[in-house]
Parts: sequence; C-alpha cells; structure tokens
Amino acid sequence: MHRREYVHEVLRDAARAEQPEGRAFAPVNIALCKYWGKREEELNLPQCSSLSISLGPLGTETVVRRADAGATEDRVELNGACVDASTPFARRLCAFLDLFRPDPGARFEVSTKNNVPTAAGLASSASGFAALTLALDRLFGWKLAGPPLSQLARLGSGSAARSVYDGFVLWHAGRDPGGADCLAERLPEVWPELRVGILTVCAEAKETGSTGGMNRTAATSVLFREWAERCRVDLQLLRDAIRAGDFTRFGATAEANAMSMHATMLDARPPLLYWRAETVAALHGVRELRDAGTEVYATIDAGPNVKLLFRERDEAGVRGRFPDMDVIAPFRQPRNDSCSPR
Ligand code: DP6
Repeated sequence: MHRREYVHEVLRDAARAEQPEGRAFAPVNIALCKYWGKREEELNLPQCSSLSISLGPLGTETVVRRADAGATEDRVELNGACVDASTPFARRLCAFLDLFRPDPGARFEVSTKNNVPTAAGLASSASGFAALTLALDRLFGWKLAGPPLSQLARLGSGSAARSVYDGFVLWHAGRDPGGADCLAERLPEVWPELRVGILTVCAEAKETGSTGGMNRTAATSVLFREWAERCRVDLQLLRDAIRAGDFTRFGATAEANAMSMHATMLDARPPLLYWRAETVAALHGVRELRDAGTEVYATIDAGPNVKLLFRERDEAGVRGRFPDMDVIAPFRQPRNDSCSPR
C-alpha cells in the first residue's frame, strides 16, 4: 500500500471543517524500549513495539495555514527564519505535506518553533512531525483520536507516532502488512516523581541519521537477529515495572535495552559508533552513583548524548555528579495545550 492510500484510509471517517489555521504543540519523547529497525519502509512500519516517555514542556509548536492561491511552493519557517526549499529539512517536511494536499496545486505555510535548547541534542523530528500532524488535524477539522493521529505522524518519522501524547506511550508494531494496527496509545500510569536528566556531551550533528543507521544495522548485524526477542522481553518488563511502580526494574531494563541497541549498532558493517569519550565517562559516572546508593539509570539514542532516569528524591545527588544536566519532570510540567489523549 502506498502512503497516500494509507492516509486516505486513516481519514476515511474523519470530520471536515477547515479552519483559517491549525496550531499545536507536541513534546519530544525518549524511548525506554527502543525502536530500531523497520519491517516495511513505505508505511514506516517498525519491526518491534516500543515504549517512551514524553518530555512534558520540551517540544515543537507548529502553525499551519493554506498559502494564497498563486503560491507555487510551500513556505517553511523554523524558529522565526525562512527555510530554503532545497534544504533536507524543508524537503522532508514538504514530502509529508504532499500526503495532505486537498488538490495537487495546494500549498501550505508552516511555521515551526522548537523550544528544545538547540544544543540539547534531542531529536526534534519526533516532536516536529507530531506537532505538524496535530496542527493539520486542527486546520482541516478532522477531530481525529490519538491512535489515528499517531498513524499519520509515523509517516513523517517513526518516533513521531509516540509524540502525539504526553506521559508513557506504547507504540504497537502491529502485524497487519497494511499498517492498520500499527499505532500508539498513551498508558494510564502517572509517575509524578520521575525525572529525566539531559546530559549534552556533544552538540554536533551526528554523521549517520536514525533511518540510515537502523537500515544498515538491520541489513548487516548478526546481533540484530536477536534484537526483536530482546525488545519483546524488555517491553513486557517495562510495562510490568510501570504498572507496579517498580523504579529499579524500570531503570535497569531501560538502560539495558539501550545498551543492547548500541551493541547491534556496533555490530553493523561498517560499524556505527555514536558514543564519544564523554558518553562513556557519563555511563561510568551513572554506575558509580548507583554503587554509592543513588538510584539513577542511563539511556542513549542514535547520538552521543545521555539521558538519565531518576526520582525526585535523588535529584540533588545526581546533580552533584552532573551539575550541567537539564532536568524535566515529565508528569509535572506537561504543556497544557499539548495533545491530550482522546
Ligand atoms: C534511536 O524515528 O528518527 O531514537 O522512522 O526513520 O524517522 P525514522 O527514525 P526515528 O528513529 C528513532 C530511533 C531512536 C530510538 C527511538 O526513539 O525509539
């Protein structure tokens, strides 16, 4: 099935009440059980289900309008500055907009702002495509619920499927070759004491993006063959830990899952090494803190930066070791205009 047909299916029963503009915010998210590998590229179907936590106030705000009738190109603004149509950013965004043009000549004006500190090294494609999807929902008056919104956002970037919600989010890989059951849902559990620390060890853009990195890993790593089973087990452990309020199991599983993903990356040919010396130093720091009785765990995505998982009671202890970290309280600081589970 092609993307446009898929969009048509998802929007089949949607309302239509076009507004002058659509405006929405979506949070960034950190995967605790990672998405690394696609089973199908056209519809961006993942090989495995994944689980994340959205980072409350950090994310992307997007406004979308229809351009005037004479416009021949979409107009894209990022953080207040016009983006040239030939840049990879604008091309990826316009390719996504292609899926939603009411007629082939229709053009859009999109203004998008990230409040993620640019140096924080947090991927903004997840919050970016989620915010754009939510903004389109408001522009066209579709009034979609969370699961179909996640299905549309996924076509921009897989992890965007999880950024249409706050809180803990489960993205089901599903089994249907046509992607009908590939969707994300918000989990009901709330952990007000959870904290996520962001350690920016390197702000440079990574050499190999997630899409290229996961495709290379899937095609060449022998460890990748075991990755699906790892994820299946880790996902269950995480869901049980979240339900039981078991922070130790939660943190230990999230950290181990990230290490397993990086093992598959290192096993790719040519190998993918996203870590810097500072990344490894931070991991040792986390272990030393734990050995000394401060319960903190680490997770790392396709880059060198480290995210820490700990509880409010341990914040001073963690900050003592990592004074420069930014701290988010995912359940205490959600933006009130972000997508609520519907
Ligand atoms: C390591 O969602 O950026 O952050 O679907 O190809 O756009 P595409 O990939 P993307 O991959 C995210 C990979 C990850 C793990 C995760 O967020 O689950």
